[in-house]
Amino acid sequence: MIDLLIYDAGQVCVVPSQEGAPQRGEALGSLELIEGGAVAIDGGRILAVGPSEHLRAEYTARHEINADGCAVVPGLVDPHTHLVWAGDRAAEFEMRIAGATYMEIMAAGGGINSTVRHVRAASLEQLVAETEARLDRMLRLGTTTVEIKTGYGLDVENELKLLEAIYRLDASHPVDIVATFLGAHAVPPEYEGRTDDYVALIITEMIPAVVEFARSRGQPPPFIDVFCEEGVFDLDQSRRILEAGKAHGMPLKIHADEFAGLGGTKLAVELGATSADHLVRTPAEDIRALGQGETVAVALPATPFGLGEREYTPAREIIRAGGALALATDCNPGTAWCESMQFVMALACRAMRITPAEALAAATLNAAYAVGRGGQLGSLESGKQADLLILDAPDYRHLAYRFGGNVVKTVIKRGQVWNS
Ligand code: NIG
Ligand code: FE
Repeated sequence: MIDLLIYDAGQVCVVPSQEGAPQRGEALGSLELIEGGAVAIDGGRILAVGPSEHLRAEYTARHEINADGCAVVPGLVDPHTHLVWAGDRAAEFEMRIAGATYMEIMAAGGGINSTVRHVRAASLEQLVAETEARLDRMLRLGTTTVEIKTGYGLDVENELKLLEAIYRLDASHPVDIVATFLGAHAVPPEYEGRTDDYVALIITEMIPAVVEFARSRGQPPPFIDVFCEEGVFDLDQSRRILEAGKAHGMPLKIHADEFAGLGGTKLAVELGATSADHLVRTPAEDIRALGQGETVAVALPATPFGLGEREYTPAREIIRAGGALALATDCNPGTAWCESMQFVMALACRAMRITPAEALAAATLNAAYAVGRGGQLGSLESGKQADLLILDAPDYRHLAYRFGGNVVKTVIKRGQVWNS
């Protein structure tokens, strides 16, 4: 007797890994569709996928769901968010519409530092409550795993407050959370004009404190990330921060080439980073590097969309170079308050010219690899965690074809059913 059997799906999209690796280059978009398929689940894991007749003959389940011709896909993985924050930046949105740029607003003390002021003033409980509401909406939209960065505290005490909020939410919320330390998100006001002193603080105090805090909570060292950008952290500062994190056992991520191509993507590949994210103004040489290394390229199309800009990640060039492409929301109060991976998929197809199949693989399997969980999550292969979606549509393409709504009918997280 197994826990759950889902049968008579219009199609089951397996999204297989490529010999234990993400789908790279032209292999992106391999879905392995099983028409009239079924999924057998036990102990929170996928036991088998296959034709409904076979699985119904083989297993009896405590609970059965007739998918009634609807598509079944892996749960969506959102591998880049800044989800724990307080306050909002609606006024800055209006300034940008009137012509101010994101970096101008940031240089004038707004932007990230405006959210830092709200976060420093907020209690842990307030941060947890505000983020929980966002996570609830994300789960209903089909996101079953989300990466969350710190980066709005920018001192030891407040960065640890954000990390504590992330750990509490991971323990209490059905969505799985992957933590990232982003002390190098901006230079805080008390270090204005002294970026190197702030970098020294990150390296000598913050990184050891974060790793010790994680250990005290029974957690592995979180990812470390840097906003490598003109006017924020330059390439050399980014390298020093990432190398220090690596020396403390932290896996690496980077914000690279959002506004200027400084070489951050190549640096990420050189250091063996798990992912390099944004990649809008990425130099040709860095795109080639992505095809040669293990670093996953994470495109965040909701960000140029949110900023009203026209340039997006050159996804087709990354695919042609043999890179592994993933998608994420970048959900944050400044550039992209977007909680929907479905919207990101729809936008990616239109703005970056990828196919719905490529978008699905980039938002599931490859996104799982972008947070170091590709071995456990992101596809409907036996042995993986049972995180999957039953759509309110017969075909996975509806996830990208429609936009602005919710095509997900039922979310199954670790084998537990959540109806929306
Ligand atoms: O990924 N670019 C830096 N960080 C975020 C924006 C954060 C904010 O503006 O609050 C991003 O777009
Ligand atoms: Fe970001």
